Amino acid sequence: MDNFRYCSPTTVYFGKGQIESLSREIINRGFRNVLIVTGKASAKKYTAFKDVVSQINKTGIRYSELSGIRPNPRIKTVYEGIRICRRDNIDLVLGVGGGSVIDASKTIAAGAVYDGDCWDFFDKLALPQKTLPTGCVLTLAATGTETNGNAVITHEERQKKLALCADILRPVFAILDPVYTFTVDEFNTAAGIVDIMAHVFEQYFSRTPACDVQDRLCEGILNVCIKYAPVVIKEKQNYDARANIMWAGTLALNGLLGAGRITDWSSHGIEHEISAVYDISHGAGLSVIVPNWMRHVLSKETACRFADYGRNIWSAETRNSLPEIANYAIDRTREFFNSLGMPSNLRQMGIDERGLEEMAKNIAGRNAHLGSFVPLDQDDILSILKTSL
Ligand code: NZQ
Ligand code: ZN
Repeated sequence: MDNFRYCSPTTVYFGKGQIESLSREIINRGFRNVLIVTGKASAKKYTAFKDVVSQINKTGIRYSELSGIRPNPRIKTVYEGIRICRRDNIDLVLGVGGGSVIDASKTIAAGAVYDGDCWDFFDKLALPQKTLPTGCVLTLAATGTETNGNAVITHEERQKKLALCADILRPVFAILDPVYTFTVDEFNTAAGIVDIMAHVFEQYFSRTPACDVQDRLCEGILNVCIKYAPVVIKEKQNYDARANIMWAGTLALNGLLGAGRITDWSSHGIEHEISAVYDISHGAGLSVIVPNWMRHVLSKETACRFADYGRNIWSAETRNSLPEIANYAIDRTREFFNSLGMPSNLRQMGIDERGLEEMAKNIAGRNAHLGSFVPLDQDDILSILKTSL
């Protein structure tokens, strides 16, 4: 295990009715002007927005609003949020929604106190040194953004979707009430679960030895996803199932699983490029890419790790050879994603061979080698994309 620094400053309020903590948080931290950020419709259609406003009204402070954040949030709406923050003297940016809303909120908060174009953060021309505080009320279990320091934003004109990672972006508080996720439809529920599992894979498939704690945590989270995914798909309002998926999503990407080891992130690098161009759902894209990435990087050298995965997650027959166990585990992964209604190829999402070479070139251009478990070059990336069609 390598040395690491682990920072997790977010206060989490988890469970039914935890929205009641919002007014206390606002009063105790002395916020005066809140910007509430929401997505296209769900927060207002269901109860999250109303509950948030009722909490803010209890405190007697002012609030402003920015709604209409789309999945794969655009930099243009972030700029709009920054203008509101400066105009209304905002001192708390509160995201009420899924990963897209919360990522936009974090970027707005950092951009509002940055003396330049906040796209610089994504182009790696600057790192945020300060930010307005952010808080969130999560309504979809998937990204882990509720407690991590990441934000992923799309620049539509440049067809780029890039990530910013900085601990300073971690929200000061996160309200996680599984009841808010009862209204998430089957597709977005499944896409969220695939995303959670993909976050685990990106950290589990690592070459750093002796990270047993991290490995067992990974396997625990995968087992929980496999146990509860079919339940939440069938019974949207099953509280315990939604609660376990929600907490799994937070723990999968709050830094714990990747602490002390070099992590991969190839599947994410490839998927982000696809959704930058085709605006597809992140989880649906991963459901295609992840199993194809697994197959591409499987070799004599890596079979052992895949065999751990096969034995500990899919109860693979231990008498079989390592490659047999590895291939079995990859097949089961694909079948599992399909069983949740997730796609198995890009054509199902309207994507054909046009543009694949350009995408591979762009990804390779940004990374000397993509990933670390098995570093990928442009040809590898293109091969995975072509297999994914
Ligand atoms: O826009 P609204 O109307 O809110 O509808 C959303 C959206 O259509 C809907 N939804 C959310 N909560 C709901 C609900 N519908 C009914 N009831 C509710 N309670 O779900 C749809 C998808 O929402 P979105 O926020 O886009 O999904 P998700 O949470 O999966 O976020 C995806 C974004 O996060 C990025 C992805 O790339 C993508 O842009 N990621 C962010 C990460 C991070 N910050 O750490 C890591 C991830 O790997 C990922 O890249
Ligand atoms: Zn992801």
